[in-house]
Amino acid sequence: MVILEARNVSMVYNSSRGPVEALRDVSLEVREGEFVCIVGPSGCGKTTLLRILSGLLRPTSGLVLWKGEPLREPKPEMGFVFQKANLMPWRDALGNVLLPLEVRGINGSEALEKAFSLLKSMGLEGFLHTYPRELSGGMEQKVALARALVYDPDILFLDEPFSSLDALTRERLNVELAGLWRNRCKTVVMVTHNLQEAIFLADRVMVMSPRPGTLKAQFIIPFPHPRDLSLTFTPEFAALARAVREAIEY
Ligand SMILES: Nc1ncnc2c1ncn2[C@@H]1O[C@H](COP(=O)(O)OP(=O)(O)OP(=O)(O)O)[C@@H](O)[C@H]1O
Ligand SMILES: [Mg+2]
Repeated sequence: MVILEARNVSMVYNSSRGPVEALRDVSLEVREGEFVCIVGPSGCGKTTLLRILSGLLRPTSGLVLWKGEPLREPKPEMGFVFQKANLMPWRDALGNVLLPLEVRGINGSEALEKAFSLLKSMGLEGFLHTYPRELSGGMEQKVALARALVYDPDILFLDEPFSSLDALTRERLNVELAGLWRNRCKTVVMVTHNLQEAIFLADRVMVMSPRPGTLKAQFIIPFPHPRDLSLTFTPEFAALARAVREAIEY
């Protein structure tokens, strides 16, 4: 079932230097349970597209449909993780994960249990009462991921959530993200410019052209789940990575 659809979406920003055409006529469909990655050169409009798909930004023209209905603002059943974790500095890790539940009026032991089990599944049970300034970058992103997952969103929008991390931490978090996605059957739309990451995680990789961003190619990733990091060393993986790279560059 198609859960999210963009139809002929275009976006022109009005900047101080005049109009900036960020997206041109983008159409795509995301099916329920699918993991879709969007890749493309820097500045091609990936973040713009993600913000439009999630209702954070209205396109200049075109339409976004969420569960068949026109999308006008972000829905409560959507979760977000951005490049920077944006945790509340005055709340500890547990407090940050509890926040979305509090906003929804969910308190007490039910909320605590949910937040705790997520932090535990990410190996953070020893850091429940640690404040963001005392967490490593990877831990902060994990807390942000837990915060996005704690209210069981139907879809997760990820904008380069691990791009500020070192390669090894990033690989480990990708494996954890893949596990969370499988266990919780979420739909994920993720922006990244790391092709390895995209191919390792996604069912489908969509390639954008330089600005104004259009969708210029799409790759179905055939590797079965669960995937192991050793996959990334296989010739099949390398061949696909090369094909995606060529699609971006030509
Ligand atoms: N609020 C804004 N006002 C004016 N122009 C904007 C605004 N936001 C983005 N742009 C422009 O739109 C284009 C696309 O930006 P966007 O952030 O979507 O690209 P991106 O693919 O996410 O880039 P990166 O890979 O660097 O994150 C850029 O030229 C950018 O300068
Ligand atoms: Mg961006």
